[in-house]
Amino acid sequence: MHSSLALVFGLLATSISAIPTGSIDTRQNHEVVFQLSNDKSGANGSKPIALDHEPKGVIELFKDTPVFVDGTVYATSAQLTKIVAGAHCTIQKDSHVIAEVNDRATYADLDGNPKQAIPVNLGGAFISCWKA
Ligand SMILES: *[C@@H]1O[C@H](CO)[C@@H](O)[C@H](O)[C@H]1NC(C)=O
Repeated sequence: MHSSLALVFGLLATSISAIPTGSIDTRQNHEVVFQLSNDKSGANGSKPIALDHEPKGVIELFKDTPVFVDGTVYATSAQLTKIVAGAHCTIQKDSHVIAEVNDRATYADLDGNPKQAIPVNLGGAFISCWKA
């Protein structure tokens, strides 16, 4: 009796959140939330990124966020807003790592000049995240 009640409440909770309860913990440890900000325009965008070491196109990821303007993404900084212990992410453009964030250094300036906010065009750039 007790367990069937628990099941009913479990199902209710599941349908309300629309996320199967059993998978939440797994997802939380296997993805970070990556934020790109454009300090010039004030726009930012956030996306969950799986810690699977797969390069993911920045444009493809952020095209439905406010940092996507005129067919590309301009950003001045990158930040992890949901951190997983041991997580590392890089942004690569033209096969160079232009920014790196991890579970301790969660913020990275993209233009290479901390004193200025110069938006960097991330067209053709890739984000890759993994867990050390
Ligand atoms: C990010 O953008 C939202 C609006 O889309 C804004 O409310 C929020 O303050 C911004 N955050 C930062 C850190 O600029």
